Amino acid sequence: MKVLVFNGSPKRKGSDTMHMTRAFLDGMESENKFDIRIIDVIGKNIEFCRGCFVCKRNGGTCVIKDDMREILDEILQSDIIIWSFPLYCYGMPAHLKALVDRTMPLSSMAMAKVGEHYEHISEHDFSKTRYIMICGCGFPSGKNNFEAMTAQFKLMFGEERSTVITVPESPMFNVKEAEPVTKPFLEIMKEAGHEYAVNGEISADTWGRINTPMIPEEIYTQLANSVNA
Ligand SMILES: Cc1cc2nc3c(=O)[nH]c(=O)nc-3n(C[C@H](O)[C@H](O)[C@H](O)COP(=O)(O)O)c2cc1C
Repeated sequence: MKVLVFNGSPKRKGSDTMHMTRAFLDGMESENKFDIRIIDVIGKNIEFCRGCFVCKRNGGTCVIKDDMREILDEILQSDIIIWSFPLYCYGMPAHLKALVDRTMPLSSMAMAKVGEHYEHISEHDFSKTRYIMICGCGFPSGKNNFEAMTAQFKLMFGEERSTVITVPESPMFNVKEAEPVTKPFLEIMKEAGHEYAVNGEISADTWGRINTPMIPEEIYTQLANSVNA
């Protein structure tokens, strides 16, 4: 099975979020059935969508000749797509959003009601594709922070096909002194990846551990404020 990972952090190296994503992938790889490809989106040449809709009239070819052509091929060949990125202003970083907008050639102009909302009808069969979002953020709590991004992800890829992992306090993954709490958390992420590889889902127990803060939010706030004062 092909797994495509979009690393949506703009950091050239040392993404907080990719610590978690790599642990998740380690867990998946223990099953030995995945061919994993990681794309560092920030290093790709991806122009903004021009909104011309030519792709909708010509069978799905974008007028812009850049790295998106290769990326659309990768998307079409993938069974699982992992979107790994930091939360930026309650959403995704702009360069990753540019990539999402440029997936427009994958659907037709025709629209249909799906559940309670409308979607463009896809030119391809994505019914078996699975989508995982792994999103880190800098605030100590996910409450009133991840909701818009989580809703957007599920609207784009379908609630049933989406697995959404959101983790506050993520800058700790790059702090050596925090290893006593980050290392056990990365083990939980590895377990989550293993469970996903075996069952296509994460167990309730592991979800409970993912959603437990590494350190209490008041202490994280104090520490963050003392470092950044
Ligand atoms: C432009 C910008 C916007 C951000 N917006 C949020 C936000 O809305 N909520 C939040 O908790 N953290 C926010 N952060 C913090 C990042 O999500 C956090 O530092 C994250 O750990 C970075 O992950 P990365 O190293 O994988 O890029 C923001 C950071 C930047 C630079």
